[in-house]
Amino acid sequence: MYCTRKVQKDLFWVGADDRRLVCFEGVYGVPDGVSYNSYLLLDEKTVLFDTVDKAVYATFLENVAHALDGRKLDYLVVHHMEPDHAATQELLLSRYPEAKIVCNAKELAMMKQFLGYDVSERAIVVKEGDGLSTGRHSFRFVMAPMVHWPEVMMSYDETDKILFTADAFGTFGALNGRLFADETDFFTRELDEARRYYTNIVGKYGPQVQAVLKKLAGLEIALVCPLHGFVWRSRFEEYLEKYRLWSSYAPEEKSVLLAYASVYGHTENAANILACKLQEKGVHVRMYDTSVTPASYIVSDAFRCSHLVFAATTYNAGVFVTMESLLHDIAAHNLQGRRIALIENGSWAPTSGKQMKEMLAGLKNTEFIGETLTLKSALANDQETQLDVLADTIAAEILA
Ligand code: FEO
Repeated sequence: MYCTRKVQKDLFWVGADDRRLVCFEGVYGVPDGVSYNSYLLLDEKTVLFDTVDKAVYATFLENVAHALDGRKLDYLVVHHMEPDHAATQELLLSRYPEAKIVCNAKELAMMKQFLGYDVSERAIVVKEGDGLSTGRHSFRFVMAPMVHWPEVMMSYDETDKILFTADAFGTFGALNGRLFADETDFFTRELDEARRYYTNIVGKYGPQVQAVLKKLAGLEIALVCPLHGFVWRSRFEEYLEKYRLWSSYAPEEKSVLLAYASVYGHTENAANILACKLQEKGVHVRMYDTSVTPASYIVSDAFRCSHLVFAATTYNAGVFVTMESLLHDIAAHNLQGRRIALIENGSWAPTSGKQMKEMLAGLKNTEFIGETLTLKSALANDQETQLDVLADTIAAEILA
């Protein structure tokens, strides 16, 4: 059975929620599900903007058929070739053999790679600034390379000021009947998942996001239609401000991310004591056990917080595995501009501090706070003052 929503008079959401997906992209847990958005325009010509993941193909095809109500499909506009939006292209195109594919050259090449055959005969290949008139609406195409793949483009409807943004401005979480961001308390209830989506999916490509934001500056925007999550018709400027921060790697708040990896609790104990000392001084701490919390949540808060503290035991002569994986993720996502403190533990040859430092040394504009604090099995009685010094230093920087 179909399930669609009206975006505005001639534009309809024909996507679908997936609440059964365990890991988005095979790695990011989505306990609240995810939506794959697709939009259908009923102008003099009919236009479908993107398809959906194969997991929800049946609902999607029913939605499209219902919204078309017997009309033929004239165009499929492709904004992004990642299979969460493109896996049902072939099915869609076989159902609507008259539909032309509006895409750029990189997308056309990827279609051939994914499908195994050439669809050039059906394609209208566009480039930066090209337009498409569908009757009442006139679209302009904006290339958005690396937001999140190199072929990505956006569409701007000059008639009704609608921006189709591909992955940008999306979020994790199923829509659950909602469509517009103002149908939920977005900045209280959804922002954490939006941040986790941005930082983990697109976070590495801050300069490319900034380049696209620059291209979009000055456009009058009434509606923003991303490929995941909510459509924006109000307060978009506030969300855009978050994107400006995240893409520039500027922290959202002066606070501490404290992540620890502990086998028998002694490293955790030092982390707990430091957290107490920081909170007592009025410094907000966001604390995680790397063996419990998946890395995507911690990466997200690493983008959020100004100061990062990592405490890890030495394991197999290296960094404990869950911390090693986290730090690899943080470095891979190009985080920069942070103040970092390290605590290592080791009963006979503590080396995790040196190796954590090496993993993080490449982060741009990032400095380490003091020397790595070394625990030998557990925090010694005479070491509490070292935690005091660390807490004082961090508090002085944050509360200044
Ligand atoms: Fe939602 Fe980059 O795909």
